[in-house]
Amino acid sequence: MKILILGLDGYIGWSLALHQLSLGNEVCGIDNFSRRKSVEEIGSWSAIPILPIEKRMNILQKEYGDKITFHAGDLVDSNFTNDVIGKFKPDAIIHLAEQPSAPYSMIDQSHTLYTQYNNVMGTLNVIYAMKNYVPKSHLIKLGTMGEYGTPDLEIAEGFMEVEFRGKKATIPYPRFAGSWYHWSKVHDSNNVAFACKLWGLSSTDIMQGIVYGTRTAEITDPNKHTRFDFDEIFGTVINRYCAQAVIGHPLTVYGKGGQTRGFLALEDSIQCMSILIENPPEKGEYRVINQFDQQYQVSELAERVKRIADKKGLDATIQQLENPRVEKEEHYYKADHEQLKKLGFRATRHIDDEIGIMLDDLTSHEDRIRTKKDQMTKQVKWRDGSSTIKQRIVNPLILPTD
Ligand SMILES: NC(=O)c1ccc[n+]([C@@H]2O[C@H](COP(=O)([O-])OP(=O)(O)OC[C@H]3O[C@@H](n4cnc5c(N)ncnc54)[C@H](O)[C@@H]3O)[C@@H](O)[C@H]2O)c1
Repeated sequence: MKILILGLDGYIGWSLALHQLSLGNEVCGIDNFSRRKSVEEIGSWSAIPILPIEKRMNILQKEYGDKITFHAGDLVDSNFTNDVIGKFKPDAIIHLAEQPSAPYSMIDQSHTLYTQYNNVMGTLNVIYAMKNYVPKSHLIKLGTMGEYGTPDLEIAEGFMEVEFRGKKATIPYPRFAGSWYHWSKVHDSNNVAFACKLWGLSSTDIMQGIVYGTRTAEITDPNKHTRFDFDEIFGTVINRYCAQAVIGHPLTVYGKGGQTRGFLALEDSIQCMSILIENPPEKGEYRVINQFDQQYQVSELAERVKRIADKKGLDATIQQLENPRVEKEEHYYKADHEQLKKLGFRATRHIDDEIGIMLDDLTSHEDRIRTKKDQMTKQVKWRDGSSTIKQRIVNPLILPTD
């Protein structure tokens, strides 16, 4: 199969590329390196060093020859997007190339504009290019479980049946997103669903839980490591706790810590996407998949990381911080996630084992984490905004020339 990975240089994209190549598929990747630049912009870096893209490609080409290709460019540039999709003609397009941080989108107006512009315009360019060049391809678009928010109801998988004034219907499950980033994903979901209806495109919209971990089966040597962020803006909760434990920084729990979310290991995220590539939806179908393994409260996760860190002699502590976010700190949460299981997904990693592996991997890079430890509590205050980070320039719109 020909697999196009949009966002190949990122945390998940790199790991997915390694796996798809190991399966014998032909992989083409694109990236504009905005993740590297944004992490640098806020003053942080990946705890685990990653190679520049040229070296990453050299390593893959030595192993896989011309089965791997890469193009540097921005999806917001419709000429670039058309060119890549029109020439490669993928069977499946895995679209990971978005600004993925909720706190980043909450810094100030310029970061909100950048996030929504980058994510929504990039996705519109992808669906137009699909329609024009590969209408039979399968778009796998990464959304987030955060699109649903935390309603005081069970969360269905994309759609729900309702009865209203005597009539029954199946309608999209309501979205109650909690950041400008999460709303960008909701806008994408609406646009992708409409493109499927309008042009008969086929898409899987993944509502993904929070991904954790440093390893997949293919990450076997330092040159194949994926990035690992631990700062308050790009570090997701389990990853950040592990980095904190390694340097003896308190594990920072926001507010009461009852915030509950779905989580899955990096290896399992890659497995899920690979199953979805193998099992495309029908022509014209807009399919929604809730992709996570287990639900946890963030305070429970801090206890878990502390327990495993303590066993390794790390002596971790937990500190409750005033919550910089605007979110419920205690709430009901129960989300369906049946469809992947029906397609054969079984979680392969236990969270405790993954935390142990992360702590070991991060201990080798303790100095890099310690140097940037102030980034763990930078505190972008969601309600009031933060003024310590400079305004961001938003890309100009590039319209197609032919
Ligand atoms: N990591 C998680 O826990 C998680 C959870 C749920 C959903 N997701 C979603 O999965 C996707 C991948 O997440 P990730 O953690 O690997 O993020 P990431 O930032 O590491 O990867 C995204 C990559 O896309 C690139 N990119 C962004 N905008 C681009 C553009 N306009 N043109 C070209 N390249 C662009 C970035 O440079 C980056 O390398 C994102 O869409 C994210 O929202 C991630």
